[in-house]
Amino acid sequence: MSVTDEIKERLDIVEVISNYVPLKKAGRNYKGLCPFHGEKTPSFVVFPDGQNWHCFGACSTGGDVFTFIMKRENIDFGEALELLAAKAGVELKPLAGPASGDEQRLERLREILADASLYFHYLLIKAGEAEIARSYLEQRGLLPSTWETWQLGYALDSWDALRDRLVGKGYTPAEIEESGLIIQRDDDGQRSGYYDRFRGRLMIPIRDWRGRTSGFGARLLREDPARPQPKYINSPQTPLFDKSNVLYGLDMARKAIRDANLAVIVEGYMDVLMSHQVGVNNVVAGMGTALTEAQMLLLKRYTSNITLALDPDAAGDHATLRGLETARQTLERQWEPVFSPTGLVRLESRLKARVQIAALPNGLDPDELARGDPDRWREVIARAKPIVDYYLKVVSQEEDLSSARGKANAIERMAPLIQEIANPAERTHYIQLLARLIQIDERLVADQVAVAVRIARRDEKPAPPPPPGATGGTPATSGGTTPARRRPINALLAPTAALEEHILGCLLARPDLLVQLDADMIGQHAPPLSPEDFIDAESRAILATILATSQAASQAPPRREDDWTVDGAASVASLREEPALIVAALPAALQDRCQAILDQTQGNPTLTDEKLSKDLGDSLLRLRARNLQQQVNHIQFMIMESKTADTPNEQLHRYYEMMVTYSAQKRHIGNLLNARSMAGALTKPSIQNGEK
Ligand code: UTP
Ligand code: MN
Repeated sequence: MSVTDEIKERLDIVEVISNYVPLKKAGRNYKGLCPFHGEKTPSFVVFPDGQNWHCFGACSTGGDVFTFIMKRENIDFGEALELLAAKAGVELKPLAGPASGDEQRLERLREILADASLYFHYLLIKAGEAEIARSYLEQRGLLPSTWETWQLGYALDSWDALRDRLVGKGYTPAEIEESGLIIQRDDDGQRSGYYDRFRGRLMIPIRDWRGRTSGFGARLLREDPARPQPKYINSPQTPLFDKSNVLYGLDMARKAIRDANLAVIVEGYMDVLMSHQVGVNNVVAGMGTALTEAQMLLLKRYTSNITLALDPDAAGDHATLRGLETARQTLERQWEPVFSPTGLVRLESRLKARVQIAALPNGLDPDELARGDPDRWREVIARAKPIVDYYLKVVSQEEDLSSARGKANAIERMAPLIQEIANPAERTHYIQLLARLIQIDERLVADQVAVAVRIARRDEKPAPPPPPGATGGTPATSGGTTPARRRPINALLAPTAALEEHILGCLLARPDLLVQLDADMIGQHAPPLSPEDFIDAESRAILATILATSQAASQAPPRREDDWTVDGAASVASLREEPALIVAALPAALQDRCQAILDQTQGNPTLTDEKLSKDLGDSLLRLRARNLQQQVNHIQFMIMESKTADTPNEQLHRYYEMMVTYSAQKRHIGNLLNARSMAGALTKPSIQNGEK
């Protein structure tokens, strides 16, 4: 039995969820108000039989106890595992070999930083010498309550105060150096002792999202024209601190970010401190660099709406643009069918997120603005404009829009942005704006935008559309008891866990097939494989790792967008030799299970690539059909239940609509599976075992 199974067995999902959501019994199940969106009528249901939950309201998602905790606590699978294991009294195997040594070492570094942070804070409050820092903070309008919450501190103007204190507490100089707090002296190649890195500065602890100090920013307090010094010095790169994946203030801002469903990104520490002090709490800062992908991934846990508060002069600043580029690439997309005039359907990806720019009034930074006029700061955030407007401005500054070349460039640069706007009216609005800007007929611009997007993706070779019959209604066979027609129906009854495991096994053994699988789905006008397809949290986590590893291996822009090309196969082919890469990237607790799945799959007879690919596609479609069936069952329950509870008609109506939609989707997949197996039977009649 896997660890997660053991945990699930020991924990009662109803009990766990009750700690977060008051639940009421409804038939065999339990209902409550969904904790993930605001609602007045309960549409959040826990199913003890299946040990899962579902929100039938705005979220329309569900999962098991792990997914619930991950979503509710905003943590990843590994962390949920730790948390629930502790709750269930299941002992997790200590992390494998070198990892455990690493973990101990990191823990030690954390202690050093925590200790230093307390010490600096104590000095700020008590030390006579720290008067300069206290008066500086006062003069900048930062209140003692803010010093407290952010554990601001002061480093004595001394070469060894911190070193001696930490050594006195039993840490070795080598460890303290590794934490970034002291520096080894280097006299002409002679190493001799260590000295404090931060001296006579205001100390700002930089904490990770959990509030653990991982480094420091240190602000200069005494200007000395004879010896000019940088305004801020920060911790160097250490095993705990990497500038590129820190967002200053995230520990304090994350709740507000989730509540407001918006993260505001500013440039400096002081901006964050002041904004929080005046009650605008959904604000974090990058570390003086362009936004990185790692930072976006951190934020994505809480919101997909991001507003960058920028100095208006920064328009056209390439670091900013690169940051925005990253932002866009990291954000989630949804697939949407588009009908062309000839009736052909294709899928386009639309951004599920909103990236906006808040232009600051000239010459003011958020710190000054928030301090002087908090409401104005709120207003600046509320008035943020979509990134497209910002790009339009940049493009019009950078391109010569009177020339043909410039107009073409403008279209080419704007096209990907415009194309992924989810709202059609908004999309049209920007096409009009662009048309006006470059003075070209609007319809022409719309066409050009579509063309430019296709050119930008010209390496894509999605699978050819299926033959007309394939996606249509039920294939016109009479009698309908051919073995080929039966198989999918039986398969629909196979337990989802087994299907999930089967897909994982294939992909673990042959990660390179992922590209074909996605192409296959696109060919069927179905979305590519995503962790959401899986119900089991453990399988989900493994799949997410496979997707991430293959994305890293292909080094292309995110796989979701356009890496489903057949060409992409070459770039992920390197993964073919290295399933071990994926296993190694997994949380330790999942490695055994993964290896077991892999061993089992590798024991299976080898199929040709073509058959493997088709099998993989079939399995995914079956899995989706199964999941839809489960949804339908659940909704049937909700409808029955509604008759006893006083559910508003509106809600009931939604349930019926959902049931119709899901049933139709399920039928559609059933038809697809039939058509696929018919196609198989036609080309290779010999392999079908007769079964009547
Ligand atoms: P700012 O100069 O805007 O910093 O730099 P600030 O926080 O508003 O500071 P005040 O108001 O002048 O006191 C933005 C960010 O760039 C990084 C810091 O992270 C800073 O918060 N920075 C800036 C450095 O790392 N080193 C520097 O010398 C300057
Ligand atoms: Mn500032």
